[in-house]
Amino acid sequence: MKGVGVVPKDQRLLLIDHPEPMITGPTEVKVRTLQVGICGTDREICTFAYGQPPAGDDYLLLGHECVGEVVEVGTGVKSLKKGDLVVPSVRRPCGDPKCGPCREGRQDFCETWNFTERGINQRHGYMAGYFVEEVAYLTTVPPELRDVAVMAEPLTVAEKGLAQAWQVQHRVPGWEHHNRDGKGRGHGRTAVVLGAGPIGLLGAMKLLIEGFRVFVYSRSPKPNFKAEIADAIGATYISSVKMGPDDFGQLVGNIDLVYEAVGEAHVTFDLMRVLGINGVYILTGIPAVQGPIPVYADSLMRNIVLKNQAIVGTVNASPQAFIDAIRDLGEFKKRWPKELAALITGRHSIDAHRELLTGKAQGIKNVIEFA
Ligand code: BGC
Repeated sequence: MKGVGVVPKDQRLLLIDHPEPMITGPTEVKVRTLQVGICGTDREICTFAYGQPPAGDDYLLLGHECVGEVVEVGTGVKSLKKGDLVVPSVRRPCGDPKCGPCREGRQDFCETWNFTERGINQRHGYMAGYFVEEVAYLTTVPPELRDVAVMAEPLTVAEKGLAQAWQVQHRVPGWEHHNRDGKGRGHGRTAVVLGAGPIGLLGAMKLLIEGFRVFVYSRSPKPNFKAEIADAIGATYISSVKMGPDDFGQLVGNIDLVYEAVGEAHVTFDLMRVLGINGVYILTGIPAVQGPIPVYADSLMRNIVLKNQAIVGTVNASPQAFIDAIRDLGEFKKRWPKELAALITGRHSIDAHRELLTGKAQGIKNVIEFA
């Protein structure tokens, strides 16, 4: 079967003839790939700064955002059947018996850093016609989410990030709304999403359904289609080119939570200056490593201490985050069917892979359709 892969040792991106995988164990599932999303990590792998093939192979099949249809199940699989839709997760545990998180299925917190990741690190990804996976790493998708479920994996970033924000903010009495009135646990709190890409806009949707007042702070001045989506779902879009962080902070009032989804350090630390009292700052972006940059280090440190601020980095996701992401995509689709669909700005054939992975980044979420 045809797949998209990289050969890091030759710095090549190419279509690869990869053997169609077969079920070899009772708890495995064979899945026909339907759609694979392209993200910044895939594009970075194509700059050869990141990404490692599995042991014994000189190429790595790309793709870690995926939805597929079950075509065959192992003899021990009871929870899935042919025709079911699934989303696979990305990270697989290390083998160290002393790694507590991995032994408990929380490899997103792996302590040895010997984890592997499909499509990224020592395991082939999903950018090919079929894949085989352990049932434990698949989350079922209801048929009505077939067209949007490829966004489940990027949404898991927000799910894990916000789950941690709740945990961290339990330190502040009354921070979380009691929600006896159904207005949401975030009611009365203000959240800022930094960046209006797929991670940012999905994060904004998640924060809105939790009841937060949401601002999306991103570079492009209005009018632009990302701003239109942000405003249409009930967030307020502000361009950082039109309004710097200080004025933005004045406008918004106490910023209780920032969800960083831009992956650029200078923007991230600039906005950190206006994080509010008892605020929490969730960082999800992975910048390319560059030289040192000036930051307002004293103000930042003063604020972090005097305002009881928490700065939390988050990567990858838990199995629960996948379940929550699928549930929330259902909620998004009910509330904002047009805007949710509009996040997928391009559906392409496999032949477009080179342009998508190495050309100028365009649109919001681009996907490759396999079937
Ligand atoms: C993926 C994560 C992964 C991270 C680091 C992200 O693009 O969504 O699952 O852990 O890259 O490799």
